[in-house]
Amino acid sequence: MLRIVDLPKREPGPGEVRVRIHYSGVNPTDWKTRIGGIHMPIPDGQVQVPHLDGSGIVDAVGPGVEDLGPGDRVWLWLVAFKRLEGTAQEYATVPARLVRPLPDTASLELGACLGVPFITAHHALTLRAGGPTQLGPGLLDGVTVLVAGGAGAVGNAAIQLATWAGANVITTVSSEPKARLARAAGARMVVNYRTQHAAAEIRRLAPDGLDIVVEVSPSTNVGLDLAVLAPHGLVVVYANNNGDEVTMPVRSQMTQSVTWHFVLLYKMTDVVPAGADRRCPSGRGVRNRRQSSPPDVRMTSRPEPGSRRRRVHATDASGNSATRRAPARAAPGARAHTARAHPAGGVMRGRSSSSSCHRPAPTI
Ligand SMILES: NC(=O)c1ccc[n+]([C@@H]2O[C@H](COP(=O)([O-])OP(=O)(O)OC[C@H]3O[C@@H](n4cnc5c(N)ncnc54)[C@H](OP(=O)(O)O)[C@@H]3O)[C@@H](O)[C@H]2O)c1
Repeated sequence: MLRIVDLPKREPGPGEVRVRIHYSGVNPTDWKTRIGGIHMPIPDGQVQVPHLDGSGIVDAVGPGVEDLGPGDRVWLWLVAFKRLEGTAQEYATVPARLVRPLPDTASLELGACLGVPFITAHHALTLRAGGPTQLGPGLLDGVTVLVAGGAGAVGNAAIQLATWAGANVITTVSSEPKARLARAAGARMVVNYRTQHAAAEIRRLAPDGLDIVVEVSPSTNVGLDLAVLAPHGLVVVYANNNGDEVTMPVRSQMTQSVTWHFVLLYKMTDVVPAGADRRCPSGRGVRNRRQSSPPDVRMTSRPEPGSRRRRVHATDASGNSATRRAPARAAPGARAHTARAHPAGGVMRGRSSSSSCHRPAPTI
């Protein structure tokens, strides 16, 4: 249940930043939490302000915060994770490690869409043995990636990041409008998994097989993934859409040395100590703390003529750059809520809202 409430404006404590929220991003975890699919206990008499992602302007900083100040444009990620304060409110007071600078040239709408989708996608694309732990142009040259569901928020982000890093990206979708979104994100080859024989088509497009599969629906796609993987291929599973059980052959995967890697973004904050340096080490090569921070990519965006979508211009710490489309996803459940959905989709704007539903069992 969502209701509008007035909450006090909390002063930032040590290591905290208060942000005047302009846009609140909506992710599946937000609506799954709201419908009771994820257990987040709410103490008696308190409320849960929803939403993980958002963007806005820094309003005040607490003691010890030196690299952010009032007036800074920022994007936020995982704000409501294990916290009662999400981004669906006018002012959010959050640990500084969840607040990232947003360049003047990047829109606040874009900023609200970066958190969960792009960090999950970046994580998935940096798990391959011997591969980069932080993406940048050229770092996935020669790598072939299959993104399942290339019109989804995470899938679309994975296409954009993999393409930017130089990978050859194939994706699956279920309709032509979704194919257009996937192509706009940079996918070189798009396969309709409903109307085409996906395995045969992908094999035809990539006869040597795929190095990485970014998987949203392992229960239905396991056969496809194994049919198209190259030896030593990696399947990164970030969701259990369409079912939580997977049946797979063992011997054939042993002989091909296949790796399955299951990821959960929400575990990443466990390795980020409070007050940790918010900026990633820049440049190429191996980082020791693999999962701690979002990629150090500066993004700018501008509207496309005749379109509500925006193109994103990304520059890495070395000055390399690439242009691609920002995701414009319609967040499931967003329209059902009291706050207004932003035309670009997946972003809400409005007063504080709170959720007081009780949530029994986790399903990410
Ligand atoms: N592990 C993590 O840390 C993490 C992080 C973020 C999100 N998630 C989870 O990931 C899932 C997706 O999140 P999202 O924000 O990307 O949601 P979304 O925008 O709704 O996208 C989901 C996509 O999955 C696609 N899909 C469903 N079944 C498919 C299949 N059999 N083959 C290919 N594509 C298929 C859908 O495409 P079609 O409609 O064309 O089938 C849709 O585009 C959610 O369950 C979310 O909770 C997990």
